[in-house]
Order: sequence, then C-alpha cells, then structure tokens
Amino acid sequence: MTIHTEQYLQQIDQAASAIRAKLPSIPDIAIILGSGLGPLADKAKDPVILDYKEIPNFPQSTVVGHEGRLVAGTIEGTFVLIMKGRFHYYEGYEMEQVTFPIRVFARLGIRSLLVTNAAGGIREDLKPGTLMLITDHLSYLCPSPLRGPNLDTFGPRFKDMTQVYNKTLISLAKKAADTVKVPIKEGIYAFFRGPQYETPAEIRGIKTLGADAVGMSTVPETIVARHCDMAVLGISLITNKAAGLNDGELNHAEVTQSAQQAERNLVALVKEIIKDWNIDHDTGM
Ligand code: HPA
Repeated sequence: MTIHTEQYLQQIDQAASAIRAKLPSIPDIAIILGSGLGPLADKAKDPVILDYKEIPNFPQSTVVGHEGRLVAGTIEGTFVLIMKGRFHYYEGYEMEQVTFPIRVFARLGIRSLLVTNAAGGIREDLKPGTLMLITDHLSYLCPSPLRGPNLDTFGPRFKDMTQVYNKTLISLAKKAADTVKVPIKEGIYAFFRGPQYETPAEIRGIKTLGADAVGMSTVPETIVARHCDMAVLGISLITNKAAGLNDGELNHAEVTQSAQQAERNLVALVKEIIKDWNIDHDTGM
C-alpha cells in the first residue's frame, strides 16, 4: 500500500467517524440528490443536518444551486442519509474526491445507494420532465475513479460491471411508479466530463454508442458504489433535449428550472420506492 492510499483510507475513516458520532443509527440508504432536486430532503423527519464543512476531509460544493450538506432522517419509515449537493469532476475535483462520500457511506455500513441527476434526453421519447430509470451507463468519457492502487478493503482490483444498476430495485421502482401514477422510462446514461454542454456531433456520436440520456455526474459515484458492493438505483430527471436535438441553445438556468418543476413527481416516486426498498445484500436480489 502506498502512503497516499493509507492517507486516503484514514481520511475516509475520520469522516465516517465524525458522521457516525452525530447519528442515532446507521442509515439504510444513502441518497444523492442532483441539480434542483433538493426538496426531497425536506421530507425527512427528525433530521440531523451536517454541513459538509463540519465533516473532516469532506469536499465542498461550488456550483450555484447545489447545497452542501448531509441530511439524515426518516422517510416512509426508513432511516436515510441524503447528500444535498454532490461533487463534480468539472468543478476541478479529482475522481477520488468526487467519490469520497461513497467510500465514507460504505465505511459507515450503508449498503444501498439511490442516485439522482438532471440529464439531457437523447432518445426521442425522453422529453423534458420525464423520469428515467438508469438501466446501464457508458463510462467511456469518465476517468475511472478506481484508477490507482486498489482499495482492497472495499473491493477487488478488477470489478465486474455487468449489472451496475440493481435489477430488483429497478423492478421495485417500476411498481412504485405505477402506484403513484408517475410515468417512468428506462434508459442508458452516458457520462460527459463537462462543464461545457455537449456539441451536437458529440450527441450524435454517443447516440450511436447506445446512449439515451447524457449528464455530468452519477457514473463515478456508481462505479465506486459497486466497487463497495452497494446496491444501486439511479434515476435521471430529463431537463432538456440534448444538444442539437432542439432549435435553441442549452442553458443552466433552464435545466435547473425544469428540474424544479418535475420535482414533485420525483419526490412522490422516491418516497414510494423507499417505502418498499428491500434488498438481500448477500444475493443482491
Ligand atoms: N448535458 C449534460 N448534462 C446535463 C444536461 C445535458 O444536456 N442536462 C442536464 N445535465
């Protein structure tokens, strides 16, 4: 083990201990909220709120519209830990910082991750306001967060990525969507580094590789969560048509506004999903 790895592990442990000291118990699910999707955290009962600044070694958010705090609380009878504000590669963080919280959650003993994001829709039916369950992703453009010495305490050097997004959780989410009468699609999410939006040529290119939606987050966190053997469910909120698929240009204010408008659906859906969230972590089913 290199010194660097030892330091990183120590930093993870310090952060995990500081969080653990503030919580009444270990949360069942960690939830990462994407751009404009913050209000789900307001639904948490008896919240314990931790500013990222209070957590040793935790990175800080820099994007407007992204807050920086952890909210632990009970939603639909389940004790969850919500990350309000995530870290993006485009902000200048290294991938080990982007994915630091995931390692901390794993260290805390959390075995499930629900990750949400705002995304551009590529497939014709993925119009703004649509919710999409992520069935798989394209990480070609994502520098691997697992590069470097392997963290053996978390997982193996060569981690299988056949089923990144948990099938049992996807079925459960589809049932939940039926119950709350929120239309839901499924699709493949492609990572772009950002911060600039994609060009129409890039969108055409990634479309031929199989992408249905595109965004600048989620894939690094999910890869690390799988390395830690967490069960992952991913939901994209389509905020805009991807570049070149509409007449206009893309702008961040519209993306955030669109996310806020569709948020009621997402909150209703996520609450219903949490209610039924039940996974056997030994089998992943
Ligand atoms: N591209 C990349 N990231 C995004 C988009 C997009 O079109 N919409 C929301 N996040």
